[in-house]
Amino acid sequence: MSKKFYITTPIYYVNDVPHIGHAYTTLACDVLARYKRSRGFDVFFLTGTDEHGQKVEKAAQAQGETPLELADRVMKRFQSLWEKLNCSNTDFIRTSQERHKIGVQQMFKLIKEKGDIYLGEYEDWYCTPCETFWTEKQLLDGCCPDCGRQTDKLKEESYFFRMSKYQQALLDHIEANPDFIQPRSRKNEILSFVKEGLRDLSISRTSFSWGIPVPEDEKHVIYVWFDALNNYITALGYPHTESGNFAQFWPADVHVIGKDILRFHAVYWPTFLLAAGVPLPEKVFAHGWWTVEGQKMSKSLRNVVEPNMLIEKFGVDPIRYFLLREVPFGLDGDFSHTALVNRINSDLANDIGNLLSRSSAMINKYFNGSLPKPAVDLDVDAKLKDSVPETVARIDENMTELAFNKVLIAIWELIGAGNKYIDETAPWALAKDPEQQERLGTVMYNLMELQRIIALLVAPFMPETAEKMQAVMGLEPSSQSLEKNEAWGGLTPGITIIKAEPLFPRIEVE
Ligand code: MSP
Repeated sequence: MSKKFYITTPIYYVNDVPHIGHAYTTLACDVLARYKRSRGFDVFFLTGTDEHGQKVEKAAQAQGETPLELADRVMKRFQSLWEKLNCSNTDFIRTSQERHKIGVQQMFKLIKEKGDIYLGEYEDWYCTPCETFWTEKQLLDGCCPDCGRQTDKLKEESYFFRMSKYQQALLDHIEANPDFIQPRSRKNEILSFVKEGLRDLSISRTSFSWGIPVPEDEKHVIYVWFDALNNYITALGYPHTESGNFAQFWPADVHVIGKDILRFHAVYWPTFLLAAGVPLPEKVFAHGWWTVEGQKMSKSLRNVVEPNMLIEKFGVDPIRYFLLREVPFGLDGDFSHTALVNRINSDLANDIGNLLSRSSAMINKYFNGSLPKPAVDLDVDAKLKDSVPETVARIDENMTELAFNKVLIAIWELIGAGNKYIDETAPWALAKDPEQQERLGTVMYNLMELQRIIALLVAPFMPETAEKMQAVMGLEPSSQSLEKNEAWGGLTPGITIIKAEPLFPRIEVE
């Protein structure tokens, strides 16, 4: 049986439109999904939308549409962005779908029958005009954070999940599985939260109706996190656990999320699963947040970076590259136009782009575009070839850690080695001496062969660029597996090498 890999993004709220922060999470998952496929894994890559709740209900009301109409509209924007960004997700789940509702209700029933869901009273601060409950912490000077008006302490009937019961089991799990919460620096934050004591969790509401009804008590709808988190298993066919995707792919190998929602994924979610007797995910990885030109991204500051606009201006691959190269995954980062343009001009146009233009132009000039046979091997060649398996090993190791920037640094060192190889072997000088024809041929072969492998390595990050590189060598735009093609010597001498167009045009700095 082939190895499996199940990776998920958070499901995105439909009360916001997609921005660069959302794109970041999904792209990171896409890179890992593509890499795992190239390593022979059977990959299930899930994303989707989180559509229920009071905010959506109200926003829809304000616009004179039904919540589902609003969700349909916004979810399409997410879906089309993922297509444009070349995301290779296997499935797209919406919490308004029947398959999700069935799974969530089943889980609710099961935990309730076990006695870990009970009816109680939920008490919090209520804003009557907004019809919204707020926690003490959310209030601004005691008033509603939305409209600024007075709030009252109110009670509402609610179902509770006995989260307190699972405190010790969760602590034990976190201690026994040091990789469960990543980056490791975040683990302590969660540990101390859990050690302070887990309270039972309110998981239903009666104050709005846009949600999944509580089984056998339809005046309640299931509250957002119990609804949303279950997407990770309902998409695999839960409650059918014996066969199909659930049997093949669960537990998730990694849930990739932003640091703001770590608590829900590292505390709520595992306790729900413990109660339901479902195995826990292997890993939860929380990445950092992007600011924009040094400021928090927000609608009121009008600095929200819109991915479609960026794609139009710079292209898909440069955005994919920039987001994963600029900031170590797990840390916060800043998005600035200057930084983006610098990366495009130096790493993309200069380094990887020039290597291909120079080498393909020389093969056309000196060998009429026919790839020569390698013959004379010198130390400098051996050094170049040896750097390939070393780089691949570094990539494998860093991909496991989701250290995408380190993977890209390793690939760019290999690209640098290719450019250095040209300088050291000085093909233009060899070309002047007819006796060095074989040597020149060897240099040309090695350069192209190196780039055949580089194309495979950059493919998870920049799929279109990899295809362009492969097209220059007449290779199938590929689903090429790294697994089967990483060994040196894959290019057949005699094939035609096309003179490459620049991979990345330089951007003039205004
Ligand atoms: N619906 C919940 C998740 C439920 S998962 C069962 C949610 N949705 S969200 O749309 O608000 O956020 C989705 C993801 O986008 C989160 O991982 C969040 O961290 C990420 N980001 C939102 N703004 C971001 C930045 N400015 N920077 C980086 N990531 C950001 O939360």
